[in-house]
Amino acid sequence: MSRSKNKRQLITLTNSRSPISESYRALRTNIDFSSIDEKLQVIMVSSAGPGEGKSTTIANLAVAYAQSERNTLLIDADLRKPTAHHTFSVSNRWGLSSVISKQCTIEEVVQMTDIPNLNVMTSGTIPPNPAEMLGSNRMSAIIEHLKSQYDVILIDTPPLLAVTDAQIVASKCDGAILVVDQGRVKRDIAKKAIQNLQAVNARILGVVLNNVKRKANEEAYYYYYGTQE
Ligand SMILES: Nc1ncnc2c1ncn2[C@@H]1O[C@H](COP(=O)(O)OP(=O)(O)OP(=O)(O)O)[C@@H](O)[C@H]1O
Ligand SMILES: [Mg+2]
Repeated sequence: MSRSKNKRQLITLTNSRSPISESYRALRTNIDFSSIDEKLQVIMVSSAGPGEGKSTTIANLAVAYAQSERNTLLIDADLRKPTAHHTFSVSNRWGLSSVISKQCTIEEVVQMTDIPNLNVMTSGTIPPNPAEMLGSNRMSAIIEHLKSQYDVILIDTPPLLAVTDAQIVASKCDGAILVVDQGRVKRDIAKKAIQNLQAVNARILGVVLNNVKRKANEEAYYYYYGTQE
């Protein structure tokens, strides 16, 4: 596998039998079972603060969905600090921001990954007005269109407490997963993030605790490993 500076490895690919990969499959199964009557087709991930593991979680979850033979699309709606293009080694010349600004069509920016059943829409060029873009009617129309093409759409977003982007995206999704870095984030901060999601009537599907009992000598067991940015 080629390794650029920002290359990120996905444990669900590099070690799909590890207990950590199994936990991503369990997350997928839990999401599947959490909704019997309503369809959970568009799912986003966010966290209270930066660097809690959102992108790592959604990328591995996307692989887990694709591995279950579902036609899966990962959208990088973190228009501030996008990473999906690094994770899947694809270009970020065009992406979500290009479609919202009508520079490209959806078909032009959806890229195949090396993983069967998994396509990705990267962020595109970072715009000056991410929140406005994500809140646009065009963004809603893009999601609606994609719903007819994919079984599952997974969306990465920026931190909830820093900017309004994630809240805006949450209002357009069927459900949200909150990633909490257990070693770092205090309970009241996590609560605030949950309140932010509830304020837009988001359905919180669950909380993923990241970095549980993280110790310096446990590095090999972290579910994400690779070059740090
Ligand atoms: N469980 C983990 N063990 C070790 N490192 C981790 C773990 N989860 C995430 N990381 C590392 O922490 C960094 C941040 O992770 P990630 O990019 O997934 O977070 P994020 O919430 O998407 O960040 P941002 O808010 O910047 O978008 C990455 O470099 C990743 O390698
Ligand atoms: Mg991220």
